[in-house]
Amino acid sequence: MAPVDSEFTLALQVPEPRPAPGFTPALLAWYDRHRRRLPWRAEAGEVADPYRVWLSEIMLQQTTVATVGERFVRFLARFPTVQALAAAPLEAVLAEWAGLGYYARARNLHACAREVAAKGGRFPDTAEGLAKLPGIGDYTAGAIAAIAFGRPVAAVDGNAERVLARCHRLEEPLPKAKPTLRRLTQDLVPADRPGDFAQSLMDLGSSVCLPRAPLCGRCPVARWCGGAAAGDAQRYPLKAEKAERPTRFGTAFVAIRARDGAVLLRRRPPKGLLGGMMEVPGGDWAEIEALAKPPFAADWRRLNQPVEHTFTHFHLVLAVEVAKVGDFAAAGEWHQRAHIAHVGVPTVFMKVLRAAGAV
Ligand code: ADE
Repeated sequence: MAPVDSEFTLALQVPEPRPAPGFTPALLAWYDRHRRRLPWRAEAGEVADPYRVWLSEIMLQQTTVATVGERFVRFLARFPTVQALAAAPLEAVLAEWAGLGYYARARNLHACAREVAAKGGRFPDTAEGLAKLPGIGDYTAGAIAAIAFGRPVAAVDGNAERVLARCHRLEEPLPKAKPTLRRLTQDLVPADRPGDFAQSLMDLGSSVCLPRAPLCGRCPVARWCGGAAAGDAQRYPLKAEKAERPTRFGTAFVAIRARDGAVLLRRRPPKGLLGGMMEVPGGDWAEIEALAKPPFAADWRRLNQPVEHTFTHFHLVLAVEVAKVGDFAAAGEWHQRAHIAHVGVPTVFMKVLRAAGAV
């Protein structure tokens, strides 16, 4: 019988799968012909501006390219440099971010701008240095390092994960498969065009290697793809089942000033969900429906339909109470209808105000 340790030696000698040599050149050649022109991207052969790359990557973290496009341009016009952003009050940044959701991103963006500005206005030029800044995780650090600084690091977003999981017909489900997918992507990064490589995977993922119906017939790397060969690319990446989103309930009280239609809003506490954003007054959001206490006595009338909104970790059902009120000093600020769009009201409360006919 063979001794145990020789089996072990044998196992160590099994080679790691090597990246297919033609994959990256084929993908880059496709990118040169099909790359999307986007407001934060440099033109072919030009060097990207780190401030734009950073800002776009933060905006794109949970928001689609289609939504980010014009919001990015508007944001850049208002805060053209990292110094301008650092010098602005947080409230102005939150107001400009309104509607994009995930407001911790805007708070971190502002904190990050202040750190960078305090150190002379230059972003760190390595993934490790970038990852120490507020709001910059592994993916974002990789993306900025590769796109803005030409560092040969992988930026593994959902697109890269999908492409690589399909090529390898990876049976390990997400999120456990993340380290494997990171390594598989890193093995393909070219030393000379890491930023283009990162963005070529994004563009391939958004136009060819589509989540539900991949267009393998049009794919420049189908030759290297196990999923395309087997005809089951859409099966990958496998995903572990997610826990169901719980529902929470709450009440929003829309006070409309009778004489001019102004609406009472107040600022949320700085930390936590929608931290620092404006809100319609209301109580806590709880797992059971309960009668909420109005912020003050008035002739409150409940709308027939609640407003619903889905956050990442829960679904919210908000009863809406509306009252026409007189002039008084309430806990909050009166905002004129026409100005509400500029003060930074998150989508959930815009839905409430619209349901109440207040905007
Ligand atoms: N999503 C995140 N970063 C992106 C980029 N640079 N281009 C296109 N989509 C993206």
